[in-house]
Amino acid sequence: MDKLLLGKIRLNLMEKLTGLRKIKTAVFISGSGSNLKNLIIFSKIKKSPISISLIVSNTYKAKGLKYANQYKIKKKLFNFNDIKNSEKKILSLLKREKISFICLAGFMKILSKNFIKKFDGNIINIHPSLLPKYRGLNTHQRAMSNKESFAGCTVHCVTEKLDSGNIIMQKKIKITSKDNLTSLAKKVLKEEHRLYPAAIIKFLS
Ligand code: GRF
Repeated sequence: MDKLLLGKIRLNLMEKLTGLRKIKTAVFISGSGSNLKNLIIFSKIKKSPISISLIVSNTYKAKGLKYANQYKIKKKLFNFNDIKNSEKKILSLLKREKISFICLAGFMKILSKNFIKKFDGNIINIHPSLLPKYRGLNTHQRAMSNKESFAGCTVHCVTEKLDSGNIIMQKKIKITSKDNLTSLAKKVLKEEHRLYPAAIIKFLS
């Protein structure tokens, strides 16, 4: 890991432990933002190690952007048409905003090797499956077609290989005979909202 960044993280952790400041965090989204909303609420409680000071999206269509207005958090859009250029701009924004931790929450763009390297070890993601099973999209559909007995969700570190970094926490969820795609997706999302804050506490302590 970049020594400067590691130093900053240690400093932030010290500040957190002495109660002086929370770790400045950005959340990246592309969709409805239920995890974002949940993380914002979590960030406001005393035991939360993070404060959310930036929301990044690749599309103005992300419904979750409304939470930026609702909770008065800075938001920025980057279209990722030119990935290199967008990432360069995001990196300088993160630097300006002194952000040292990134939570991906339904962010539908794949970050480059270079970007991940710059934030080495400090980007985490939530994925709606029991990784390493069902990386990528349509996880519930694939789990159901394969007649799995369990679905789940995973919070993991982001590496250059999609949905493959170290697992921080995972929650198993039973698929019952009554479940369909909608009910399963709802059950899993509800558990994601419990899992993500717990995983952040685990990861940062
Ligand atoms: C979640 O299921 C998350 O695991 C996946 O994308 C979905 C985002 O949902 N990566 P939301 O936008 O947080 O409601």
